[in-house]
Amino acid sequence: MRKPAFLVFDGIDGSGKSWASRETKNLLMHDFGLKENEILLTAEPTKGQFGQKARQILQSQTDPSSNAEELLNLYLSDRKEHLEKEILPALKQGKVVICDRYKYSTIVYQSVQGLPIQHLIDLHSGMNVPDLALFFDLDENIAMYRINNSASRKGTEKFEKNEFLKKARESFLLLETLLPQENIKIIDASLPKNKVLEQIKKLLNKNDKIVMVG
Ligand code: TYD
Repeated sequence: MRKPAFLVFDGIDGSGKSWASRETKNLLMHDFGLKENEILLTAEPTKGQFGQKARQILQSQTDPSSNAEELLNLYLSDRKEHLEKEILPALKQGKVVICDRYKYSTIVYQSVQGLPIQHLIDLHSGMNVPDLALFFDLDENIAMYRINNSASRKGTEKFEKNEFLKKARESFLLLETLLPQENIKIIDASLPKNKVLEQIKKLLNKNDKIVMVG
């Protein structure tokens, strides 16, 4: 029997985590023998009312430091709803959940916006801790290059600026130290795609919740 597992992929914009979360779903099906209906691939901000409102702000505002409190409240409400309506029911059904962005994004982005980091950590104290959180680490200049050259993106959003992403990258790396009890692993997202997937595969192989047991 396999136990349910909660996996989070996080990192700065342009780090490739959304691509990697889709590829990981394929990997779990082809290499780990999971069926499609045993996996929930999901993302934050969600398409719910709070997530949609956050996205509107991201697309209409250009100053990365504005609307910090408002965005914090939207992301938190979105996350609570997401956990209650999608993530927890899926885990209860024994699924593997892959979540593209989670509390780490709030702790990082809203602290870079100017809110106190410890307060942001404390706000998440009652929420589920992932079994494994992968942080896609990449130089902010390469991330911006990827964003500006991506055919699927229409323009840049509020936080997609070199200076902001540089601070966000530093903050993601700091979180590994600030949350020592959590299972956080850093992925070198500057490598070619096949090398990125190799790193993920190795980590999944080490996770006894993913590998079939018993
Ligand atoms: P992103 O993953 O870029 O969504 P998409 O690729 O669909 O546009 O997320 C949108 C932005 O929201 C991104 O710049 C990070 C930011 N964000 C926060 O600031 N705090 C949060 O809690 C979350 C979930 C995202």
